[in-house]
Amino acid sequence: MSKSYSVAILGATGAVGTELLELLESRNFPLSNLKLLASQRSVGRTLPFKGENLPIEAVSDRAFDDIDIVLASAGGSTSKTWAAKAVEKGAVVIDNSSAFRMNEEVPLVVPEVNPQAAAGHKGIIANPNCTTILMAVAIWPLHKVKPIQRLVVATYQSASGAGAKAMAEVKTQASAILEGQAPVAEVLPYPLAFNLFPHNSPLNDWGYCEEEMKMVNETRKIFGTQQIRITATCVRVPVLRAHSEAINIEFETPFSPDEAREILSQSPGVKLVEDWRANYFPMPIEATGRDEVLVGRIRQDISHPCGLELWLCGDQIRKGAALNAVQIAELLVEKNLLKPAIAQAMS
Ligand code: A2P
Repeated sequence: MSKSYSVAILGATGAVGTELLELLESRNFPLSNLKLLASQRSVGRTLPFKGENLPIEAVSDRAFDDIDIVLASAGGSTSKTWAAKAVEKGAVVIDNSSAFRMNEEVPLVVPEVNPQAAAGHKGIIANPNCTTILMAVAIWPLHKVKPIQRLVVATYQSASGAGAKAMAEVKTQASAILEGQAPVAEVLPYPLAFNLFPHNSPLNDWGYCEEEMKMVNETRKIFGTQQIRITATCVRVPVLRAHSEAINIEFETPFSPDEAREILSQSPGVKLVEDWRANYFPMPIEATGRDEVLVGRIRQDISHPCGLELWLCGDQIRKGAALNAVQIAELLVEKNLLKPAIAQAMS
């Protein structure tokens, strides 16, 4: 009989948590038991899974007894509080927050790019930032053929990145505006409906926000090189759940758009979407609910002989978060990597 695993979702009631639930069901993850964890606020609620209503439990020390895998998506401070405790109890934590991503002991994994990194885990594996995952899936196949020297990125990020409450807020704001009322912003700092604003994460001394620096630092860690120069401008746009990115890529030598197209049309996790006659390219509404990153509008940068331009859209909640985490869990199961590297070496 094939093995099955006991899984806990920490943050099960959130935007990413509910998607994790859906993915475990639709991808038929080999489960022996599924535990749904959230805050005390959600106790008494249930969520549907495979025809049953599973109760939500408040996270506690004992919640991780006999759990093999924790899929955590309840914010950085919750992960900092509970991840080590879950690891102590023998679980592997796949963490969607930014709490451990840049920790040298913690692999940062996009399965299409650096699956081998997962093997070195010591109990925690970090799921990268959503914009970083989407970009990494699209540009890694090109980087493997000709190393990328520099990236200039602009993002168009949906409300889902700020959670389920932010998505609901945008809808309420849109209704209010259509009824001639002033929009109220409580979750996001400013009204997002019929508006946009630079990403609201904290700014550093150079004027870059945290989200922009995540793209810089996490991409380098995932690609295993500090040599790529990266600059990003991250913007929140009034889209519900798929992010878009305009990426300018500079290579050492010229990379023809046709060659890039040929490579990307065969790359895992990528779907090429281009109809030049119809001016039809990836759109967030078409990326919503899909597993692949939609890539298109690949063209020569007319300002640089070694430059390429491309445009992508990807579901922030799915490949940008929940799907990537479930793919990491599948990788651990498939490659028998649930025990940390040290324990594997000793057994
Ligand atoms: P809850 O619904 O009980 O507040 P989102 O990113 O969509 O806002 O979702 C955040 C998720 O993280 C929710 O499931 C939320 O649960 C959970 N969460 C937030 N704070 C805590 C906490 N202190 N302990 C456990 N779960 C938390």
